[in-house]
Amino acid sequence: MCGIVGYSGPQNAVDILLEGLENLEYRGYDSAGISVFAGNGITTVKAEGRLKCLREKLNTSPVSGHCGIAHTRWATHGEPSDRNAHPHGTERVMLVHNGIIENYLELRSRLTAEGYVFKTQTDTETAALLLDSLYQGDPLAAIREMIRQIEGAYALAILFADRPGEVYGVRKDNPLIAALGEGENFIASDIAAVLSHTKRFFTLEEGEIAVASRCGITVYSPEGAPVEKKVHTATWDVEQARKDGYPHFMLKEIFEQPKALRDTIHPRLKDGLPSFEYDGIPECLFKGRGRIHIVACGTAMYAGLVGRDLIETLARIPVEVQIASEFRYRDPILSKDDLVVIISQSGETADSLAVLRLAKQRGVPTLGVVNVAGSTIAREADYVIYTHAGPEIAVASTKAYSVQVSVMYLLAFAMARSARTLGEEEIRAKVEELLQTVEKLPRVLEQNNAIASIAGRFQESESIFFLGRGLDWALSQEGALKLKEISYIHCEAYAAGELKHGTISLITNGVPVVAVATQEHLLGKMVSNIKEVKARGAWVLLLAQEGSPIDEEVYDQAIRLPKAPDLFTPLLAVAALQLLAYHTSVCRGCDVDKPRNLAKSVTVE
Ligand code: F6R
Repeated sequence: MCGIVGYSGPQNAVDILLEGLENLEYRGYDSAGISVFAGNGITTVKAEGRLKCLREKLNTSPVSGHCGIAHTRWATHGEPSDRNAHPHGTERVMLVHNGIIENYLELRSRLTAEGYVFKTQTDTETAALLLDSLYQGDPLAAIREMIRQIEGAYALAILFADRPGEVYGVRKDNPLIAALGEGENFIASDIAAVLSHTKRFFTLEEGEIAVASRCGITVYSPEGAPVEKKVHTATWDVEQARKDGYPHFMLKEIFEQPKALRDTIHPRLKDGLPSFEYDGIPECLFKGRGRIHIVACGTAMYAGLVGRDLIETLARIPVEVQIASEFRYRDPILSKDDLVVIISQSGETADSLAVLRLAKQRGVPTLGVVNVAGSTIAREADYVIYTHAGPEIAVASTKAYSVQVSVMYLLAFAMARSARTLGEEEIRAKVEELLQTVEKLPRVLEQNNAIASIAGRFQESESIFFLGRGLDWALSQEGALKLKEISYIHCEAYAAGELKHGTISLITNGVPVVAVATQEHLLGKMVSNIKEVKARGAWVLLLAQEGSPIDEEVYDQAIRLPKAPDLFTPLLAVAALQLLAYHTSVCRGCDVDKPRNLAKSVTVE
């Protein structure tokens, strides 16, 4: 969702900024723009559509300079258009913005009364014109006053026409980093933007103002005092953020799952038992917990559904899984002996972050399961477990889901140990089963071509139904989300036993049904449900373990998974469902890595 890059240094800022925006493309956007100190003032070029449209404009009327800001916009207020694209501002001030200015209507009418004329429908232009109205030669004073007056969430990169060579950055509830190069410096929404120039960065805290110039980056506290920042070194490199010969990031990331799982699990094992010493988490965090609340959005929430079954089955602790955007407004019942677990790949999802803050206000311990180091959820949670998926560039989450699920296994084992619902030897055996399952994953990935040919059958479908029971139901929900979000086919997942309570009326001749039947202990029941849809003409794709005794007449095609204990099949089955979604999207000619209307990091409500 929206990307920001700012640059000051000896190189041509236009090249660096465009390259930075390209690295942020994965976040999703619908227009882009750039402002550069060129000649006597700031030159701005903006274009609706992909970055190539902006490049074309810049090729027709070249611009160059050594300092500037750039942005990829994901429309919230006002349609995607050249005009609404960022940067916004005046001859004196230009800025780019991620987030939403909530009181923009009120500010807009005040500024209009003062004589300002608005050219766009965006909330961002309000911030830009407000800043212009406040600027009297002291950028820090004007920015401080602006942030006092605006409400909402923002990360801003700003140029003042009479301060060539300087980029100002400030944020609240939206991430913004400052990165230190050799004789050049950067402001960005995400370190991925500038990884090919530097790995050294720090994150800005709320209200801090950074001033980046060629000579360095100075940071001021909200009160105006200089602040010393702790510099981090990014562990991701540019290579990891490239496609490596795969046609799409999504396929590459699906194939990276065995490594991502090993990288996430192994550091959390000690003598064959789960241990979060590596994350600085004391064992007592898991002791005596009344209830676990797992809160997240989308795919991360579906990983939480798997977690619920695992923790309840193994540790016998009640677990609730909630959608963050609902939980935060429900006045949830939380008690101090509960634990709130927030799962988030990006660590920046606005609703998940709000839940984290709500839990902290209520004095409930919080644990973040996060992929992006230094992200806001990771910094604000009482404890954090980093998943080691590496950068996930495709908008549709794949390897991040698998590693989140792997952390759910480890948490369930650790909680079972604390609650003494399982003995040490039983837990060791479970850890071994988990590791063996991960090593079977390549055998699912080997079925890539076979799954591609099944996907051809789905490409013309209007609706696809996913059915499952127990862990397979949790997984079906993720499978349906993955397929619908990148192929634009309507997909729905149902608990197989619920079918007869309404949904079965939608099953007619030829309607595709993906029957996820990996839970051997529920196989009899599941097969009955498959027979029910088959009898109504459904075209059934079965996903089951090798050797599962299922009569060939009840399905049309099957994907067989290597045998594994029921508890661990989600790690194998999800890869098959991801490949199915991927190939269906490819067959339909969709933009696999950047599906329409979606963004990678959802930093607005
Ligand atoms: C779907 C997908 C989204 C995210 C959701 C939460 O493929 O990626 O549903 O899972 O937006 O994002 P994070 O995990 O960054 O909080």
